[in-house]
Amino acid sequence: MADEKKPAGPDLTKGISLSAIADGEPLLGHVGDEPVLLVRQGGDVFAIGAECTHYHGPLAEGVVTDGTVRCPWHHACFDLRTGEALHAPALSPLACWKVEQRGDTITVREKLEQPKPRPRGTVSAAPDRVVIVGGGAAGFAAAAMLRRHGYQNSITMLSNDDAPPVDRPNLSKDYLAGSAPEDWVPLRGDDFYKESGIDLRLNTEVGKIDAKGNAVTLKDGSSVPYDRLLLATGAEPVRLQIPGADLPHVHTLRSLADCRAIIKASDGAKRAVVIGASFIGLEVAASLRARKLEVHVVAPEKRPLERVFGPQMGDFIRKLHEEHGVIFHLEDTSEAIANKQVKLKSGGALDADLVVAGVGVRPRLALAETAGLAIDRGVLVDATLQTSAPNIFAAGDIARWPDPHSGENIRVEHWVVAERQGQITALNMLGLGQPFTAVPFFWSQHYDIPINYVGHAEKWDDIAIEGDIASKDCVLRYRRNGKTLAVASIFRDKESLEAEIAMERAA
Ligand SMILES: Cc1cc2nc3c(=O)[nH]c(=O)nc-3n(C[C@H](O)[C@H](O)[C@H](O)COP(=O)(O)OP(=O)(O)OC[C@H]3O[C@@H](n4cnc5c(N)ncnc54)[C@H](O)[C@@H]3O)c2cc1C
Ligand code: FES
Repeated sequence: MADEKKPAGPDLTKGISLSAIADGEPLLGHVGDEPVLLVRQGGDVFAIGAECTHYHGPLAEGVVTDGTVRCPWHHACFDLRTGEALHAPALSPLACWKVEQRGDTITVREKLEQPKPRPRGTVSAAPDRVVIVGGGAAGFAAAAMLRRHGYQNSITMLSNDDAPPVDRPNLSKDYLAGSAPEDWVPLRGDDFYKESGIDLRLNTEVGKIDAKGNAVTLKDGSSVPYDRLLLATGAEPVRLQIPGADLPHVHTLRSLADCRAIIKASDGAKRAVVIGASFIGLEVAASLRARKLEVHVVAPEKRPLERVFGPQMGDFIRKLHEEHGVIFHLEDTSEAIANKQVKLKSGGALDADLVVAGVGVRPRLALAETAGLAIDRGVLVDATLQTSAPNIFAAGDIARWPDPHSGENIRVEHWVVAERQGQITALNMLGLGQPFTAVPFFWSQHYDIPINYVGHAEKWDDIAIEGDIASKDCVLRYRRNGKTLAVASIFRDKESLEAEIAMERAA
């Protein structure tokens, strides 16, 4: 029993030989009950918190590079010197510890006051008023980054949601499955906004942007002036266009309210039909299985997620869900929904107490369109994420940006990309002019199997598979003309991180 709780690795208060710390290889130890990571880079030795501030990922299993350590789970990146969370999804810094060196012995005893983040450039023009439309991944990350970098003027965040910014990926995973407590869901507690001087206005719908007059108009007719505007309106679920799609037991999932409605509907329900074998559809299927519902998935494709991952991984995902009791109706669609039934195109019907449609999302472009911004299946932005209008930036699911890795203008719907774009727009609203160069990354979770994906491959001519997909230990490299465009992996976290770093360097 006592051993189970003992922190791993050497007790760093007792000292450790410098030669035991290999250059660039994180070493896990502890100070009292706290896990601490020792990292040697060249002549420097750093001691920082060993657990990622996102979901407690084990940084000792991550990768050290260029004065940073990267988390193996969802690729957050921390500055070894300051602990700063340089790249989302982690948003809070790691604790930093004082490293004492005497001769060949390194000792760690004392936690330092949190160092300030390193400046990322010179603020050339701090605007008086920043307005952010959207209280999601990109909007929140931008507001937090503005404050982190010392911006002291006004920040107003306008969101038509009734909840403050939430950890949206959790809404189809642990929270929906019933295994995450309520307090995991908000990105920050209510106090944060007050203490940070962020004027977060919920239930506030922006109806129009006056790009010439530098103001947004709310649905109630009032207007909010800005000097810099960030558009981060995200995406909305595509609604089914079939009879019965508007019945009360038919749900989509985007917001916390949507998620709560599905949880409520699943209470006492026996059977659910998920329409669409999308990421959200399949994650919902897994979560509803955890709630002991019988789950049927209806989708037109031959294999789930084949378009993103290819046939081999598609077959694996199907089998994984089937092993957990999900029943697929592939190469089929729903024609109509009645009170307790979903009618299939192939004939026949499925009983359903609850229906969840996960048939894709559409970027919310209406505001950008009325403002006259350049649009191309998304809001067109330049390398600094600035739109075609001066002083207006766009980030997240709505933004189509010049991706230096694929050489294409791309738009993706990834949590980490939205947050990182929000962070870059914050710096650029302060005049830092930083290009957005992050390699796209997303993860998806099905039962206890995480799938990580770096890069962007809409088409490929070859998938090189290393390891064994069925054994849940694999790396898939998607290549076109011999170039690796993207890498998917299961339980090969280091290789996923190394692929990300290689793509960064190649660009
Ligand atoms: C259930 C679920 C699970 C997901 N899981 C994953 C995952 O595992 N991995 C992954 O990479 N991605 C995942 N995603 C996708 C990810 O959440 C999105 O890519 C990300 O949230 C996009 O961030 P955003 O800031 O662009 O938009 P959002 O986070 O959607 O935020 C947009 C905000 O704008 C507000 N808004 C919109 N229009 C207006 C208006 N006119 N006036 C005022 N406010 C407005 C909305 O209310 C919302 O607050 C998931 C998405 C969902 C829904
Ligand atoms: S746990 Fe580290 S990035 Fe998610």
